[in-house]
Amino acid sequence: MTEGPRAPRRTNRRWLVAEYADPGIGERNFRWAESPLPTPAEGQFLARNLWLSFDPTQRLMIARGDPPNPEEGLIPRGEVMSCIAVSEVVESRHPGFAPGDIVHGHMGWEDYTVTDGQSFTPSYKVPAGVPPNWALGVLGLTGLVAYFGVHEVARPRSGETFVVSGAAGGVGSIATQLAKIEGLRVVGIAGSPSKCDWLLREARADGAIDARAEDVGKRLTELCPDGIDIFFDNDGGPTLDLALDRLRPGGRVVLCGATARYGVKPRPPGPANYLSLVMVNGRMEGLLGRDYVARRAEAFDAMLPWLRSGRLKSKEDVLVGLREAPRGLARLYSRENVGKQLLRMDEPGSG
Ligand SMILES: NC(=O)c1ccc[n+]([C@@H]2O[C@H](COP(=O)([O-])OP(=O)(O)OC[C@H]3O[C@@H](n4cnc5c(N)ncnc54)[C@H](OP(=O)(O)O)[C@@H]3O)[C@@H](O)[C@H]2O)c1
Repeated sequence: MTEGPRAPRRTNRRWLVAEYADPGIGERNFRWAESPLPTPAEGQFLARNLWLSFDPTQRLMIARGDPPNPEEGLIPRGEVMSCIAVSEVVESRHPGFAPGDIVHGHMGWEDYTVTDGQSFTPSYKVPAGVPPNWALGVLGLTGLVAYFGVHEVARPRSGETFVVSGAAGGVGSIATQLAKIEGLRVVGIAGSPSKCDWLLREARADGAIDARAEDVGKRLTELCPDGIDIFFDNDGGPTLDLALDRLRPGGRVVLCGATARYGVKPRPPGPANYLSLVMVNGRMEGLLGRDYVARRAEAFDAMLPWLRSGRLKSKEDVLVGLREAPRGLARLYSRENVGKQLLRMDEPGSG
């Protein structure tokens, strides 16, 4: 076994799944615990978690299942809550990872995680010089779905009209700016006046619609009088039907996510207006971020210069300290987060 320069503390603070998230989500769904530090077996490494990512699909991991089926991604009660994190390898019995490596992968809401790196999205090393917050957000899975969703699935042509839901969230904030860089007319839909303000001022969107205070259909008609060429959907709610109804010939719908549907029982019906695709020879296509992990260098090479020049802004909403993890997830569903919701870990064993 190889060991890193810093001997890790022997206590591992953790958040365990306690109650299933039905209907809400918050601290009551989790239980704080302290356990002995885990030891890596052959083929595993021990990593200290540095930054945690919050993703709406985490709610599905603690959706009610009776009994919960781990093969469906459900985490049984008493197990550590799972997340994507950027972490530092501190001990390794894995041939691919050495102490000191900074890795992106599936970890847990805890100080230290033992893993073989083989999960839904296999662990990979973060390139030198990429800050952990960027590695989790704009250059992580969040950025990959935005980048490949805009460039490969939407296949934009300059001057087209691009509408995005969840526009001020993690994926949406990047998709909005990438569409602008491509020379599109961009209208963002988001859930508060301050999010709309950010879209217009910082992301340089051409229009913004407050999804909770305005009549979205009426505003779409006003802001997109000739219709919509591309709809990038993050929320999967009624906006999808409104966009389908306004698609231009050859229109594309990028199915990235459906935050409005996650954990909702009974499952809401699908879009009523899908036949609009027939009338416009349109296309509706999903994408999965992990399929693009192998091509992440393409996205890095394109986005890093834009990030460094300020043409692309990494909008982040950062909590500090492991104690705050349940609040990080809850903020996605209380719709408070502006930009990518992250958490910077405090010192192991503190708090
Ligand atoms: N396909 C993939 O591989 C992949 C990868 C990453 C993420 N995603 C998906 O992309 C979407 C965005 O993810 P993210 O990480 O960037 O999250 P996010 O947009 O930063 O955070 C969640 C946002 O969803 C909106 N929301 C919450 N509850 C809602 C509701 N009931 N109805 C409508 N909107 C609601 C809120 O924004 P507003 O208040 O502004 O509406 C909230 O701020 C998610 O659906 C996620 O699952 C897909």
